[in-house]
Amino acid sequence: MTFTAGAELADPLADRFGDNVIGDAAVAVAHPNIALVKYWGKRDETYFLPVTGSLSMTLDIYPTTTAVRLSSEPGDTVVLNDRPAVGDAHARVARFLDLVRARAGRDEYAVVVSTNAGPTGAGLASSASGFAALAVAAAAAYGLDADARALSRLARRGSGSACRSIFGGFAVWHAGEGDGEAGDASSYAEPIDGDALDPALIVAVVDDGAKAVSSREAMRRTCDTSPFYRPWADASRVDLEEMRKAIARRDLPAVGEIAERNALGMHATMLLARPSVRYLSPRSVAILDRVLALRADGIAAYATMDAGPNVKVLCARADEQRVTTALRDAADIQVAHLGPGAALVRDDER
Ligand code: DP6
Repeated sequence: MTFTAGAELADPLADRFGDNVIGDAAVAVAHPNIALVKYWGKRDETYFLPVTGSLSMTLDIYPTTTAVRLSSEPGDTVVLNDRPAVGDAHARVARFLDLVRARAGRDEYAVVVSTNAGPTGAGLASSASGFAALAVAAAAAYGLDADARALSRLARRGSGSACRSIFGGFAVWHAGEGDGEAGDASSYAEPIDGDALDPALIVAVVDDGAKAVSSREAMRRTCDTSPFYRPWADASRVDLEEMRKAIARRDLPAVGEIAERNALGMHATMLLARPSVRYLSPRSVAILDRVLALRADGIAAYATMDAGPNVKVLCARADEQRVTTALRDAADIQVAHLGPGAALVRDDER
């Protein structure tokens, strides 16, 4: 983990804190990650322990910047994208800070100011970058002694997929074994060597609004009610093993095929949930058709979709221009590559 000194990213947030703050802010930046083998389903909701392991690539776009500053005021203050967080959004951050306080043996409340460069809650992994940045900034603000694995386990408690955004490049999240404390210790992400693959991920944004059903609710409903869930989970364990091998031998078509079937399978599980959850829209399907057409033209392009209608297309960097051109009139396009892990940008010098 790189901790870079420097105030340039901290400065834009500095004047958003009120009075009654103690010491300097700890500021962290984290990037979203997109799973090529998905996390879909928890075996333990309290500890965010997944049913299956997953594998992702961290992107170099849509960073979240989060500043945490301890406060002498009662209660946590949370500002997300320039607005005070209330209700569930506030409760999720406050519960997460409770965990950090308990581990650090501290009881001060905090002011948290967080901004996403990308869309929030649109299936573009804003909760992954959000809780990875919060884990790193809050650990620093409360003086918690945490290495990268401990930060990954901590970030997982805010949002499962956040444990992978602690790391740059490709990361695998081990499902771990057991529930409660045993599961907590054994379920973390770690980086895997895949940098040589160096793919492009073309993000086709067809709708950047927040989704109607949260991924948390959708995965719970799927686990509880979908007859497709168990078969998908069994297939996903095989996908994970095959994906690791495909990355190791730098086999982009195999990586893409596994990612696409794993994602389509995940969406199939939700369609059979009761009531059904459908994130893909006609515009998503139009992108999927174009991906098929690209493949028919000999271009190795493969789609993956998360809890939202936006489609991400994996391809070789050498093909990114052709893929972008093929999708341009059907969606807003962002081109992403492998990005960095979560890092502190200004250390707390209280
Ligand atoms: C479809 O990590 O957002 O993006 O742990 O309940 O916060 P919670 O869920 P979250 O789920 C992400 C699901 C996914 C697949 C993935 O990222 O692996």
